[in-house]
Amino acid sequence: MLLKAGAFALSLAGLATGAVAQDYTIRLSHGDNETNPTHITAMAFAEKVDEYSDGRIKVQIFPSNQLGSEEEVVRAVRNNTIQAQIPAMANVHPVAPSVGVLLLPYLFTSSEEAHAGLDAILEPMNDRITQEGGLRFLGILEKGFRVLTNSVRPVETLEDLKGLKIRVSPNEIVIATFQSWGIDPIPMGWGEVFTALQQGVIDGQENPYTTAQTSKFYEIQKYITEIHYMIWTGPLLISEKFYQGLPPDLQDAVSRAGAEAVQIGRAANAVQTEEAMTFLAEKGMVLSGPPKDEEAWRDAARGIWQNLYPSVGGEEWAVTATGLMAEAAK
Ligand code: MLT
Repeated sequence: MLLKAGAFALSLAGLATGAVAQDYTIRLSHGDNETNPTHITAMAFAEKVDEYSDGRIKVQIFPSNQLGSEEEVVRAVRNNTIQAQIPAMANVHPVAPSVGVLLLPYLFTSSEEAHAGLDAILEPMNDRITQEGGLRFLGILEKGFRVLTNSVRPVETLEDLKGLKIRVSPNEIVIATFQSWGIDPIPMGWGEVFTALQQGVIDGQENPYTTAQTSKFYEIQKYITEIHYMIWTGPLLISEKFYQGLPPDLQDAVSRAGAEAVQIGRAANAVQTEEAMTFLAEKGMVLSGPPKDEEAWRDAARGIWQNLYPSVGGEEWAVTATGLMAEAAK
């Protein structure tokens, strides 16, 4: 009885000051700067979580890998020392192999197709990765095709690629894809890329148009080729341990906020991609569109899918997941 009276007195005090009890904090990490669509997604998530949880959950955003590299933070999210993250999919794959299906080269041919496929795969994916990696996707951000930039020459054919030092994320599927095109790419953490380009340790890298703009690659890169091999996807992911510790109403609040935030991020990216292309051309970059022999690139990379199945959760899952996404995109 005494306890109840005390709680009542506290809640009255809260009402009087307009204060709301904050019960949980989500620390959210990502690797981009504050103009990138990844950050816009993070901000939208923070706002919506605040709204849907009535202020009971606060989201703190840490951009530009302040809390550690993407690879390190994925592991911290698994352990719930950091609660949420928006990393590139390639950096989730080592902890949760099944997400590798989203890295298969030439999986999607457009952003629209990707949106349908990514939304359809969300629940089956969560059934697997909550077990595999202690991670849950609240939604999957999409930022358009990863385009190849370099400082040496226009890459218009597979032959032009040969001899270039191209950085890729340290991921076996991405590495195998570049090897199918006849080069050994240089795996490197994202945080080191700008300096490595600047110092000439590498000639080029591949990330979306919006990243080329927001990371200021136009200062140190000249040529862009739309290699179309992979759409940038990155989950808004949350620690399963943290999520399971929330009461059901707050789980719903977080899930709803995450799903809506990625839609906002995707829309922002579509607008920013158009702007980035114009901006990069104005800055003197040469945008050469897709390679002239794009079919040869596609055939070589699609030819290794079968070899990649063991790395993406097995053939049965790979065939089921890609089939489900293709069906949703029809
Ligand atoms: C990478 O290339 O490592 C990522 O795409 C960077 C990012 O998270 O945007």
